Amino acid sequence: MKIDILTLFPSMFDGFLNESIIKRAIESGKVKIEIHDIRDFTLDKHKKVDDYGFGGGKGMVLMPQPVFDAVEHYKKENSKVILVTPQGETWKQQKAYAFSKMEHLIFICGHYEGFDERIRTLADYEISIGDYVLTGGELPSMVITDSIVRLLNGVIKEESHMEDSFHNNLLDYPVYTKPIIFRGMKVPDVLLSGHHANIEKWRYEEQLKRTKLRRPDLLERDD
Ligand code: ADE
Repeated sequence: MKIDILTLFPSMFDGFLNESIIKRAIESGKVKIEIHDIRDFTLDKHKKVDDYGFGGGKGMVLMPQPVFDAVEHYKKENSKVILVTPQGETWKQQKAYAFSKMEHLIFICGHYEGFDERIRTLADYEISIGDYVLTGGELPSMVITDSIVRLLNGVIKEESHMEDSFHNNLLDYPVYTKPIIFRGMKVPDVLLSGHHANIEKWRYEEQLKRTKLRRPDLLERDD
């Protein structure tokens, strides 16, 4: 998979690309991620990428020209363009599975007060990561990319994401490690029993119990 991220703040991605599982996925060739500065595409002689919005009110608005030129530069036949915006469809695990099958994704990160409405025409998908407003699209792009890359073949053990929270619309079951007793809190006996069928049954019951208690809405969903 190839992911191109268009942003005005490329250095925000340094930590994300250079640590842990994402770093390993890049090094082992499972994914190629490139960060591109939208400012490099502006035709303005002062390198301007934003201006005041017509009609007054809001602050600076990202101009269409550099974004159109950047997207057109990287777009190929198999590319899908994602615009991250609080007005988009809410990101869900099921979407992460679907997007992990795609060949090439291009993210557009908006910033400042907003982006020119015509930028929307570039997008195949508009995606929000939740009902709150961030200062820009960089963190949402990282969140979405992270959730997709961990699902690519060989990035983490397949059993791990088959049991993720939200797989089958259930929250994950509780896990424990050493010591068996910590500050009076004991690991459930069934996990120490070595009886695999009982362990699986217990885990499934815990998933149902937790989901009913914490996220009953998930049990009603059919996506
Ligand atoms: N940009 C600002 N806030 C956002 C959000 N919640 N989701 C996606 N993009 C955003």
